[in-house]
Amino acid sequence: MAVALFDTDTPLRPLRAEIAQAMAAVVESGRFILGPKVGAFETDFAAYLGARHAIGVANGTDALTIALRTLGVGPGDDVVVPSFTFYASAEAIAPTGARPVFCDVDLQTGCVTAETVKAALTPSTKAVIAVHLFGNVAPVAEIAALGVPVVEDAAQSAGTRTDTGRPGTLGTIATFSFFPSKNLGCFGDGGAITTDDDDIAELVRMLRFHGSRDKVTYEHVGYNSRLDELQAAILGVQLPHLDAWAAGRRAAGAHYEEAGLGDLVALPAAAAGAEPAWHLYVVRHERADELAAGLAAREIGHKAYYRTPVHRQPAMRDVAAGVDLAVTDEFARTHLALPMSPVLSAAQAAEVVAAVRASLG
Ligand SMILES: Cc1ncc(COP(=O)(O)O)c(C=O)c1O
Repeated sequence: MAVALFDTDTPLRPLRAEIAQAMAAVVESGRFILGPKVGAFETDFAAYLGARHAIGVANGTDALTIALRTLGVGPGDDVVVPSFTFYASAEAIAPTGARPVFCDVDLQTGCVTAETVKAALTPSTKAVIAVHLFGNVAPVAEIAALGVPVVEDAAQSAGTRTDTGRPGTLGTIATFSFFPSKNLGCFGDGGAITTDDDDIAELVRMLRFHGSRDKVTYEHVGYNSRLDELQAAILGVQLPHLDAWAAGRRAAGAHYEEAGLGDLVALPAAAAGAEPAWHLYVVRHERADELAAGLAAREIGHKAYYRTPVHRQPAMRDVAAGVDLAVTDEFARTHLALPMSPVLSAAQAAEVVAAVRASLG
């Protein structure tokens, strides 16, 4: 039995008619940019997270750039960011004029820690981007205690819970991506910024619209970065189902454990106090490439997401010169994502585990 890396189709199937209706209503309304659907989704997403403000933007990359701008990050500043993450986490720093300073991650959780961030602080550090990688949670309060504002990159952690609140409410400001394969995905590009700070929220609203509050006076050089009405309508239909999907992702992780996956490979570990909605289920093994080849032969979906970590990417050569991140390099070399979705069954998990066992001989 083949098992796909993702299943974005099955969870959406029962919602197709409702989504089509919501999209038709937008077309009928003739309002496509910054209309009532975006407003409603912003209100609902903020309420879901327990944040004071949620502001829709065009994608998760812009969300990071705009979030950094609201903290005053600019030329001459440093921003600490992990290297073991999607490239955009660091790429989004460049448009502010600041310099990314790469830090290491924890081998168990895949996330930055107060220790790894502390080792990367410089006198010019203006902010830290704490990536909640794979749906897990970085220790934001401990990092903030170092005295630097934290931007949560929550692109991969919609649906995750912690005993001190959800990702998106743990730092000064947070960013989300609604890329279609994300835990909460739209039918194109989309993103959001969340914060409890009224002044920051007001600045985000201006920056997403060319630095203006009224389309008459332009107070900042901003961005054209809006979530559109169609995407907001689609997200609005899905949001009430996010917790059930998150529970499905956690159940899939439990199926893997029950099927004995932990005897074969190193499993992802939930951060203390966190219940991750696993976006990607990423395991580690010394022979990760051999495992990948074995899974390919058995039609089991898999992917090495970050084999070349960000600090070793060609575009980062200058800013990352001399950077040495031992855990990042080990993670990059040994990780492999296995199939994960809200509907991954015990039978599918058992199939994957059998294929892992056979592949590793
Ligand atoms: C950790 C992380 N940060 C940022 C992004 C950027 O989001 P987007 O693709 O919506 O720009 C993504 C996903 O693509 C991501 O996984």
